[in-house]
Amino acid sequence: MSCRIRVLSSVVCLLLLLLVSFTQAELRRRAFTGASGATAANKFSSRVVGGEVSDVKAAPYQVSLQNSYGNHFCGGVIIHDQYVVTAASCLAGLRKNNVKVVTTTYNDWGLDGWEYAVEEIIPHCNFDQPLYHNDIALIKTKTLFAYDEVTQNITVAPLEDLVEGEKLTMYGWGSTSAAGDFEWELRQVDLSYVPTEKCNATYGGTADLDLGHLCAVGRVGAGACHGDAGGPLVDSQGRLVGVGNWGVPCGHGFPDIFARLSFYYSWIQSTINGCSIS
Ligand SMILES: *[C@@H]1O[C@H](CO)[C@@H](O)[C@H](O)[C@H]1NC(C)=O
Ligand SMILES: *[C@@H]1O[C@H](CO)[C@@H](O)[C@H](O)[C@H]1NC(C)=O
Repeated sequence: MSCRIRVLSSVVCLLLLLLVSFTQAELRRRAFTGASGATAANKFSSRVVGGEVSDVKAAPYQVSLQNSYGNHFCGGVIIHDQYVVTAASCLAGLRKNNVKVVTTTYNDWGLDGWEYAVEEIIPHCNFDQPLYHNDIALIKTKTLFAYDEVTQNITVAPLEDLVEGEKLTMYGWGSTSAAGDFEWELRQVDLSYVPTEKCNATYGGTADLDLGHLCAVGRVGAGACHGDAGGPLVDSQGRLVGVGNWGVPCGHGFPDIFARLSFYYSWIQSTINGCSIS
């Protein structure tokens, strides 16, 4: 796979390739993470297409996951004073010392923000077993988040009560076009909930989809794109219902696939509260 990012340095390019190296195309579409350009047309990296720039306080729970060079590679969501939830695929192969959680960016990931060092990366133990399943991870930061008007936690939806067509909003710094670079400003786009069975039919029936996934679709030209992995999908009550996983990126009319937070609720709770068997 060649790296076609023009703007980013080759070092960053390499890192991005590392991030996306676990899969090649066919129907399978992986992580929102990764490179832009034709070769990665089926991977979400981190951009919302067809959306609009978010208000500064729209998503105070959104964080930017950055490498040691300060480059954004995935979104994440503050769900607790010391924990962020994201996609496990965002963190595959990364050491905790090479990941920073960045908050208070006033929605521009390139601006100064607070950096939090990582204490522990906790991917779901069945991540990628089978392939593309359980793509969820928690990051424990070394210190507690300092909350302010642009840094807050979000409540995770504990139960599944979505109805077909329900409006859900996703946020991300991903590209705004398939070949585009990451946006500096956080963008948001409205999607609507697609029940799993219908979603599966849209994808022609794929074993890649299971009950831990949540599908949401935008109008053609709107949806997740490169760089939106790990970012939040929020319902109208302001609860976190999904984090970005995979799909046919950049608004081609296929549903975007998220990890379904209600499905992983007890895993999240027991991991954070220390009741898990280790
Ligand atoms: C979320 O933040 C509020 C303060 O804004 C705090 O009282 C609450 O304990 C936090 N929730 C979690 C799960 O950390
Ligand atoms: C989607 O369809 C495939 C093929 O029929 C099946 O293996 C898979 O279990 C289905 N997924 C869900 C979540 O129903």
